[in-house]
Amino acid sequence: MVIFFVIRDFDDSTPNFSQNFFKRNLLILPASKMKCEYCEKEAVENIYGRYYCENHFVKYFLGRVRSIIDKFGINGRIAVALSGGKDSSACFHSLHKLKLDLLPFYINLGIESYSEICQKKAEELCNSLGYRLHIIDINEYGINLADEKKPCSVCGTAKRYLMNKFAYENNCKYVATGHNLSDVVTFALNNFMNANLMNFRGNRPYLEGKEEYKMVAKIKPLYWLKDKECMLYVYINRLRYAEEECPHAISAPTIQIKEWIHEMEGKKPGIMLNMAKSFWRLEEMIGSKAKLNICRKCGYASYSKICKFCKIRKR
Ligand code: AMP
Ligand code: FES
Ligand code: ZN
Ligand code: ZN
Repeated sequence: MVIFFVIRDFDDSTPNFSQNFFKRNLLILPASKMKCEYCEKEAVENIYGRYYCENHFVKYFLGRVRSIIDKFGINGRIAVALSGGKDSSACFHSLHKLKLDLLPFYINLGIESYSEICQKKAEELCNSLGYRLHIIDINEYGINLADEKKPCSVCGTAKRYLMNKFAYENNCKYVATGHNLSDVVTFALNNFMNANLMNFRGNRPYLEGKEEYKMVAKIKPLYWLKDKECMLYVYINRLRYAEEECPHAISAPTIQIKEWIHEMEGKKPGIMLNMAKSFWRLEEMIGSKAKLNICRKCGYASYSKICKFCKIRKR
């Protein structure tokens, strides 16, 4: 049963807003009687000082996605990575609404009941929009996350590799993921906090592909949209998504960073947007000095002779 919870205002810093808030499927409903700026309907969201009703909020959301598509001239088949969660559901639905050529896929990571629930939600979403979901099974590569000392790290390597491989083998020009503004800022801050500038990648909404390395271009269509806005989009469109969280991720330090940036955003709206712009610019300035090779085993891109995935796969 879905529980509805009314928050008095539109403030991101409301306690329980982020991870716990979403986990319990609480939704933001307007208690305020503000009117939409673009029509006379009741507002459901305040974005940087402007009030939006449901219809105009959806238009705003699609406009932000469209701005990424247009800026980078996205044109051609997109493999859409569905995790079953709210963000990739919102990403897929918005790209579908914008009439792009899509190929949705899901990587089953073999994590207890979590992976099955997520797969089911992703399948339901695809069926409702008239697509067939392609499934990739991590077990086929002999990887069992339950046996790993650092399951999240192995999982991250496997997901990145398999996303690119799927897109490449299916003649897609791009892979789209559901990373949103909150994710991008959290990820970059986490790298800062760990003095990890070598890994200062993924802060941009678009990463060009490299045919000679079988590398497909990556896009983050939700780059300008916050967690809360993705949740609202999913709610308004009644999209299927899994509320469950990965059992390995529950104690991740990034959860606290996310809560902290939302608290800051509540006090000073726009701070996340500016941080993302700064991180994007910084990444361009730093550039990548790491030399790319071709993995001797699989033929995909690698920073060493054998790629990380070939090192972790057992089959
Ligand atoms: P995460 O790495 O879990 O924060 O997820 C970031 C994005 O990666 C999601 O929004 C999805 O687009 C994609 N993703 C995560 N898990 C999966 C999965 N199991 N299968 C396919 N795509 C995924
Ligand atoms: Fe990868 Fe949890 S989703 S370890
Ligand atoms: Zn309106
Ligand atoms: Zn390899």
